[in-house]
Amino acid sequence: MAQVCVFDAYGTLFDVAAAARVAADEPGRAALKAVWPQLAEHWRHKQLQYTWLRTITHDYTPFWEVTMDGLDWAMEKVALDDPELRERLLALYWELPAYHEVPVMLAQLKAAGKTCAILSNGSKDMLEGAVDSAGIGTFLDAVLSVEDVGIFKPSSMVYDLVGTEFGCPKDDVLFVSSNGWDIAGASGYGFETVWANRAGDPVDRLPHRPAHVLTDLTAIPELA
Ligand code: LAC
Repeated sequence: MAQVCVFDAYGTLFDVAAAARVAADEPGRAALKAVWPQLAEHWRHKQLQYTWLRTITHDYTPFWEVTMDGLDWAMEKVALDDPELRERLLALYWELPAYHEVPVMLAQLKAAGKTCAILSNGSKDMLEGAVDSAGIGTFLDAVLSVEDVGIFKPSSMVYDLVGTEFGCPKDDVLFVSSNGWDIAGASGYGFETVWANRAGDPVDRLPHRPAHVLTDLTAIPELA
């Protein structure tokens, strides 16, 4: 059984689509209401794509920058030219809600004596904002950000941060992510992995597969 449970942040603990969804429900947002699911998908896709491209080209920049760049691309793609809306969507990204099962799941892990942490591409201040607004800070022993190594997941330098922080061997780590590419990276690195396949996606055709597949995080305490 793993002693250290490490979670990806965005899309795994925090609902990344919430920014566009919440803004679309606000008064006077008819244009966004019509396209918010596409906007959210393009935003997320470009944000991630830019992390990988910037890693390949050695052009690291904090996750906040790629989050803004991804949003700018996505807004242009769905023909939303609205600086006030841009600012609102970015503000909402700092206070994303956790998925509903997250607080109870983390409380169960802590009650069982597990060490719990986030390992994320996110910038430290962004992660602090999301952890605070979701109210899950008391369950976390560490919030580890790629900022400390200046490269994005799935570089092994990022997964190394877990052993550096906790002094534990790789096989003592249960790594949980809803991102198939992150799970492929972490499995290849040597962590026991859980893919939280919230979207019902096909498994990524990459060299390393998840050890476990769930549809959300409810059953994590049974695996740890
Ligand atoms: C993270 C993104 C990639 O939190 O989901 O690392």
